[in-house]
Amino acid sequence: MAQLFPKSANYLAPASIAALVLVAGGAVGSLLALDYAGFNQRRGETVEQTVPFSHEHHVAGLGIDCRYCHTSVEKSAVAGIPPTSTCYNCHKIVWNEAPMLEPVRSSYRTGQPIEWNKVHDLPDFAYFNHSIHVAKGIGCASCHGPVDQMRLMRSAESLQMRWCLECHRNPEKFIRPKEEVFNMNWKAKDQETLGRARRKYKVRPPAEITSCGTCHR
Ligand code: HEC
Ligand code: HEC
Ligand code: HEC
Ligand code: HEC
Ligand code: HEC
Repeated sequence: MAQLFPKSANYLAPASIAALVLVAGGAVGSLLALDYAGFNQRRGETVEQTVPFSHEHHVAGLGIDCRYCHTSVEKSAVAGIPPTSTCYNCHKIVWNEAPMLEPVRSSYRTGQPIEWNKVHDLPDFAYFNHSIHVAKGIGCASCHGPVDQMRLMRSAESLQMRWCLECHRNPEKFIRPKEEVFNMNWKAKDQETLGRARRKYKVRPPAEITSCGTCHR
């Protein structure tokens, strides 16, 4: 989609939200139109990193659980990016001379963290929280796509407001049993499983999770 707004539109938005939330009632239609312009859309793009870390290799190949590296995803707003010591648990032993891993070794030696560039990055005026989504049975793959097949991380979705709202209006078909949240290959067997999960986790009705204050606080 064409980029209709300059990047600087990002800096104007917080002020306009404050104004618009006040007069939200009639403004919703035009807001959604604005949202369609999509200045925040980076779907499918990969990002340059100092170390070309592969989820495909570490997740599908080696079978490492997401939580081994993204340790706070169940308890906090952010999932967290692992410190060098997590990599070094293995890479002090395996591939410990590979040139590709020199930034990991030098980071370990010097104590300087590796700088990972963000792939997903919501504007500051939008509030997101991982732990609530995990607690209500939304799988990582529902928002991040098939991470276990990504040689380099990319954003599977636009992360635009209308994308968030599409699910908040009708989350039922995405709610899975909690023990399957980290499973990249899970598929719903039938409607009944989904309905049961929704009732079990007492997911709030759409009206409560589509109000502006849910994500703009
Ligand atoms: C061995 C450690 C490790 C494991 C296991 C792991 N990750 Fe990651 N993950 C990383 C590192 C390092 C980065 C930052 C580099 C990058 O973006 O590729 C990252 C980045 C990400 C990002 C993008 C972060 C951003 O910048 O927006 C997502 C999403 C993600 N991981 C999801 C997952 C999911 C889902 C799983 C389980 C299926 C998983 N990861 C398993 C280490 C890991
Ligand atoms: C549980 C052990 C383990 C952890 C933790 C781990 N790795 Fe690996 N990594 C491996 C193994 C095993 C290989 C494959 C070596 C081979 O192919 O012989 C590998 C390969 C790699 C490679 C080579 C390219 C490829 O094929 O993926 C890179 C780069 C890499 N790891 C980076 C990292 C980084 C960065 C971290 C921390 C975020 C990390 N690894 C954490 C076990 C681990
Ligand atoms: C409801 C959608 C959704 C689900 C489910 C979800 N994420 Fe995310 N994730 C996001 C968004 C949106 C961001 C960007 C947050 C920001 O920029 O503030 C993000 C960012 C990340 C990041 C970057 C670091 C951070 O915390 O901001 C990692 C790593 C990550 N997610 C891993 C995971 C893992 C692992 C799971 C499964 C337990 C998961 N995510 C489930 C939407 C989701
Ligand atoms: C695939 C479905 C899905 C997507 C996509 C999704 N969410 Fe959610 N979200 C949910 C569900 C389900 C809940 C839990 C509602 C409840 O607590 O009953 C939730 C809850 C939340 C909450 C907590 C509300 C509160 O009052 O505690 C916030 C904040 C939130 N989502 C923000 C976002 C944002 C921002 C995005 C887009 C970047 C997003 N969500 C995308 C399904 C989704
Ligand atoms: C489920 C979460 C969620 C809800 C509910 C929500 N927003 Fe947003 N909103 C976002 C996210 C995420 C962004 C940033 C991404 C983007 O630009 O689309 C955003 C962006 C915006 C922007 C910036 C311009 C634009 O469209 O990108 C405005 C203005 C805005 N929202 C107003 C509102 C108003 C008014 C409401 C209530 C009718 C509302 N939002 C409800 C998540 C939400």
